[in-house]
Amino acid sequence: MPGTVGYRRVQIALHWAIAVVIAANYLLGDDMGRALRTHLQGGEVGLFPAMMHVWLGLAVLVLVALRLGVRLILGVPEAPAGDPELLRRAGHLVHVALYVLMIAMPVFGVLAWYAGIGVAGDAHEIAANLIMLLAGLHAVAALFHHYVLGDGLMWRMLRAQSRH
Ligand code: HEM
Repeated sequence: MPGTVGYRRVQIALHWAIAVVIAANYLLGDDMGRALRTHLQGGEVGLFPAMMHVWLGLAVLVLVALRLGVRLILGVPEAPAGDPELLRRAGHLVHVALYVLMIAMPVFGVLAWYAGIGVAGDAHEIAANLIMLLAGLHAVAALFHHYVLGDGLMWRMLRAQSRH
């Protein structure tokens, strides 16, 4: 992983934009099972929440692709110095899992909505729940670092770093 001094403004903007869109879509997800059945039977579904959920899901896909492209170009900072090796690895693993799920979840959604593949709908739901679980764990870990270990980790995702 390339070592940089911190996240850049565009990386921070993408992190929080994706977090907000995913949280909003999770809240809209409740009625989607019914909407999917109506849609696959050729019925009309409303703009809200069904189509909004579909468009926000597609937006996640675009934003994550952008984010990975930016990551490839700008790199990311190392895990905080002094973290035990096991924690560094766990943190890295959670980040990788979140990236995989952030791609897999909307792709499964697209396969369910546009191709009518039933099992993709189930996989979409499982991926969404897993994201919530891992993102919750990830947020608790970040806050633990910041407030308990006192290493100021949260500033990395709040304040952009310029290169030295
Ligand atoms: C309140 C919620 C959240 C907080 C407090 C938070 C905080 C942070 C912080 C501080 C970092 C930097 C960690 C480091 O540099 O070692 C980070 C990175 C990251 N966050 Fe979050 N985050 C939140 C929500 C989310 C959500 C919802 C997702 C995705 C679904 C997410 C995905 C990621 C990923 C993939 C990284 C790694 C970025 C990289 O290095 O490429 N985060 N987050």
